[in-house]
Amino acid sequence: MEHALIHGGVVRRLWPSDMHHFRDHLLRLDTQSRQERFAMVVSDDFLTNYAERCFGIDDVIFGYFVDGVLRGAGELRGVGLGLDAGSAEAAFSVEHDWRRRGVGSELMGRIVQAARNRGADTLYMSCLARNRAMQGLAKKFEADLQFDTDELTGRLVARTPSAAQLWNEWIDDASSYATAMLDLHTREFAMQRNMRR
Ligand SMILES: CC(C)(COP(=O)(O)OP(=O)(O)OC[C@H]1O[C@@H](n2cnc3c(N)ncnc32)[C@H](O)[C@@H]1OP(=O)(O)O)[C@@H](O)C(=O)NCCC(=O)NCCS
Repeated sequence: MEHALIHGGVVRRLWPSDMHHFRDHLLRLDTQSRQERFAMVVSDDFLTNYAERCFGIDDVIFGYFVDGVLRGAGELRGVGLGLDAGSAEAAFSVEHDWRRRGVGSELMGRIVQAARNRGADTLYMSCLARNRAMQGLAKKFEADLQFDTDELTGRLVARTPSAAQLWNEWIDDASSYATAMLDLHTREFAMQRNMRR
């Protein structure tokens, strides 16, 4: 699963040094996509604050990069420290021009694996009832996951009965961390060069 290539882009885990990539991706989402992603209308300020809070110890985010720009993200949170042990929240966003290319499916595959690796057997996804794309994406995982709708919240619920595959994710983490650090050093180097001019 490491650095899967999709239409010239790569998927890797995001680290705190990637926060600006994540924030800028969220800010590029149009009004409807924002509403579908957060199940409500959200402002730029909301997204900026949200992105800044998304790299906690318990959070796992995978991103889809094309030419160094983040065009899609899959988020997992609430595993481990959550009150309801064994459950987690997942969310997905892919920018318009990069949809229907399998990016959402790749991100969801990674999130499901990450959830399993952390012992979560239930994944909640905020999804408006009219969100055909998310329902279609969920359908692709029907052979592997059992889908339901939470009666209280209306959220999509996926149950993941299979065993963990920790090794894949560890290799992936090491490699994506190295890529994120390289990206950070490249940006620092460019900043220093510009300051010297
Ligand atoms: C949901 C979303 C992440 C899907 O991303 P994607 O990269 O287009 O997903 P994929 O290309 O992997 O598509 C997987 C399947 O989902 C279904 N699907 C995707 N978009 C669809 C649409 N607009 N209508 C119907 N089915 C759709 C299809 O079955 C598709 O498989 P196919 O292309 O082989 O037919 C993307 O549409 C998005 O970011 N939407 C806005 C935010 C959102 O709704 N997030 C979900 C709530 S957390």
